[in-house]
Amino acid sequence: MITAYDITLARPAHALEIAQLSRDAIEYGLPWRWTQGRVMKSIRDAATNVVVARRDGELLGFAIMKYGEDEAHVLLFAVHATQRRSGLGSALLAWLEATAGIAGIRAIRLEARAGNAGARAFYLRHGFVESGLSPGYYEGSEDGVRMVKHLA
Ligand SMILES: CC(C)(COP(=O)(O)OP(=O)(O)OC[C@H]1O[C@@H](n2cnc3c(N)ncnc32)[C@H](O)[C@@H]1OP(=O)(O)O)[C@@H](O)C(=O)NCCC(=O)NCCS
Repeated sequence: MITAYDITLARPAHALEIAQLSRDAIEYGLPWRWTQGRVMKSIRDAATNVVVARRDGELLGFAIMKYGEDEAHVLLFAVHATQRRSGLGSALLAWLEATAGIAGIRAIRLEARAGNAGARAFYLRHGFVESGLSPGYYEGSEDGVRMVKHLA
């Protein structure tokens, strides 16, 4: 059972923690691309939502979603390993979907590592469908599975 947490937009002070969680939970085995500086740029980008789930000042999870004309793209999404399977990822995704819906977005797209069965199951559970494969999407070493959810 998870105790209360807050989901809010990230502030610049959160950039390092977000980058470190990306490195550990998402970019494992790959070069670290989402460094503090890159996350900071996303936080400051008007077309990008960086959202954090925090409890007692500690980062539990985060998501980065970039807006296009009528579609949005989830660039990064992670829940801390100790906090998984407690509904936190679902709560973050619900926040993204609600916000995108209000903004008039029709579909949310993302890529998952082909070998990341957990993430693929998570998104399928939430109504995403797999729409294709991007060969070598991850530094040429792993395929990406493209996923999309059309919002009502
Ligand atoms: C994918 C991830 C964000 C899910 O976060 P979470 O907080 O554990 O997700 P939830 O607890 O809300 O899970 C909701 C449902 O999704 C499915 N699900 C989640 N993780 C799963 C897993 N590892 N295997 C199978 N199904 C899973 C289940 O149906 C789950 O419901 P249940 O726990 O009642 O069975 C988390 O595992 C994570 O951060 N993974 C590492 C980073 C990553 O893969 N990010 C996605 C990159 S595209």
